Amino acid sequence: MSTWANLGLQDSASPLMEQLIFFHDHALLILVMITVLVGYLMFMLFFNNYINRFLLHGQLIEMIWTILPAIILLFIAFPSLRLLYLLDEINEPSVTLKSISHQWYWSYEYSDFNNVEFDSYMIPTNEIANDGFRLLDVDNRIVLPMNSQIRILVTAADVIHSWTIPALGVKVDGTPGRLNQTNFFINRPGLFYGQCSKICGANHSFMPIVIESVPVNYFIKWISNNLNS
Ligand code: CUA
Repeated sequence: MSTWANLGLQDSASPLMEQLIFFHDHALLILVMITVLVGYLMFMLFFNNYINRFLLHGQLIEMIWTILPAIILLFIAFPSLRLLYLLDEINEPSVTLKSISHQWYWSYEYSDFNNVEFDSYMIPTNEIANDGFRLLDVDNRIVLPMNSQIRILVTAADVIHSWTIPALGVKVDGTPGRLNQTNFFINRPGLFYGQCSKICGANHSFMPIVIESVPVNYFIKWISNNLNS
């Protein structure tokens, strides 16, 4: 999760988020190179006295400064498209989680396991534990197995919400009447926090998401305990 003064991206917990961070760094590097070059040129303009009264056109330089930026843009466009299609790929998921958004809480269903279902509400500030995170912890966490391909289906019961986990590189809109799909792979155990990221109304800030990533055998224990109840 993000803590104080963390202005960059969170550490990734999935291969796709790792790729997103690599792409971000790549694009940022190109951006810095362009900014430095243009900044240098603009700065040096203050100090030159060259005047050319008869300069009206320059075919060669115009050809260069049109084609060169186009080539630089391709270096961003191709990796971007590669990632876009990689994010869209569904790789034979072993668990499906259905996430339904309401004003203003999430509810979840494990359709593969006799439809285990529960609501997940934020813990209010006056009830939070000493080691809890304000506005971020929930009463019922999603438990998911690590090192497994997981599919999530997102929909909404009332208005548009968005199921977003930064560390996993997941952001899917929950839209009433639609069922959206994405998938991810958690490569380490831990707690992963997320928030709704569509402006869905007054309590938009108060419907966080918490994933508890656990080893597969632990997940099987958890799901079978919930099947009995
Ligand atoms: Cu739900 Cu914003």
